[in-house]
Amino acid sequence: MSAGHLIKATHLAKNFISSVLKAGDVAVDATMGNGNDTIFMAELVGDTGKVYAFDIQQKALDETKIKLSNQSLLHRTELIHAGHEDMDQYVKTEAAAIMFNLGYLPKGDHHIVTRAQTTIRAIEKGLSLLKTNGLLTITIYHGHPEGLDEKEAVLSYVKNLDQKLFNVLYMEFINQANNPPLLVAAEKK
Ligand SMILES: C[S@@+](CC[C@H](N)C(=O)[O-])C[C@H]1O[C@@H](n2cnc3c(N)ncnc32)[C@H](O)[C@@H]1O
Repeated sequence: MSAGHLIKATHLAKNFISSVLKAGDVAVDATMGNGNDTIFMAELVGDTGKVYAFDIQQKALDETKIKLSNQSLLHRTELIHAGHEDMDQYVKTEAAAIMFNLGYLPKGDHHIVTRAQTTIRAIEKGLSLLKTNGLLTITIYHGHPEGLDEKEAVLSYVKNLDQKLFNVLYMEFINQANNPPLLVAAEKK
């Protein structure tokens, strides 16, 4: 597919994040996986910023560490082998941007997936870590068995966030087959 502006949810999420995340900021990659979002945000925060990245799979940390080292970005990151639902134990300052990319590790074990209950706890903690005008994005994959429950839980949670505190946007490619990922973006007022 040729490059356009409306390509996919992950691309749109990065566009939103790049408009808020600046040098010196703190960011959180709640689902490190293969490290693409960690690298993307490490480039934006510069040498004075920090990206905290979480995953429950050691494989994700190992692969992300290699990629960051190859790009001389490792010092801008903290790679944490823990569930994102515990992010408040590790991140002690306000964050300008937080990214969730739900589902399973591409090219990994498809049975290890994010799950509704822990995802909601993590989103709740992420929203309380966000600074004013900070942005939290959630890319939701609902084409796998656990994904449908997770999608419903996430959408019902974010729909009910107080509009005095957050602007919440939901985006969906409505003419695509095969359950394309959905995007939620929440901005703290
Ligand atoms: C779709 S992948 C993330 C892709 C990643 N952003 C990238 O750039 O490659 C989802 C990741 O979430 C991880 N995960 C599952 N449950 C988690 C949890 N409770 N806390 C943190 N990560 C979790 C999985 O191990 C998997 O690596």
